[in-house]
Amino acid sequence: MTNLTQVSLESGFRDAMAHLAAPVTVVTVMAGERPHGTTVSAVVSLSMQPCLISVALAKSSDCLGYIAESNSFGVNVLSSHQHAMARQLAGKGAAKFDGIDWQESAGLPRLAGTAIWVACTALEFVDGGDHEIIVGQVLEVDTSPGAAPLTYHRRQFGTHVPSDIA
Ligand SMILES: Cc1cc2nc3c(=O)[nH]c(=O)nc-3n(C[C@H](O)[C@H](O)[C@H](O)COP(=O)(O)O)c2cc1C
Repeated sequence: MTNLTQVSLESGFRDAMAHLAAPVTVVTVMAGERPHGTTVSAVVSLSMQPCLISVALAKSSDCLGYIAESNSFGVNVLSSHQHAMARQLAGKGAAKFDGIDWQESAGLPRLAGTAIWVACTALEFVDGGDHEIIVGQVLEVDTSPGAAPLTYHRRQFGTHVPSDIA
């Protein structure tokens, strides 16, 4: 495959994946004494017995490094009104968590006002190209009934709209 073909495959794949509607979560972790969080859409419910969840993080992600150190992480599924926080936590550096409302739960930073909270132990790190797939064993889960989820589709934030209402 020539370089040009590879480049056009990559850009076509990137554009195609932008059409995949995805939930918006923030993966949180303790970075020593301070909380850290990163906006992540690559989150999958993996297994029920046992309860497992997977998240994919770029190998360049600071969050990935902190999870490798602490072997634990939280998944905060954002509510539809939390798009500003999603943009803020898609940035880099320790200061990006400034002003974020959170509390400690299972030793992890749990964000306020989210639709779903899941606390995990990192069981396995699997190579996934330029990403690392982390398999998490679920320790704690909480849901806010009725909260609309924040979604990302064609590079825009939105929410789910039911289409099968009788
Ligand atoms: C809607 C949205 C979804 C994202 N999904 C992912 C993802 O699934 N995995 C990932 O590694 N980065 C994802 N990112 C990019 C990270 O948030 C971004 O690279 C961040 O700066 C990484 O921060 P860190 O180095 O503190 O971990 C996403 C960004 C946005 C806005």
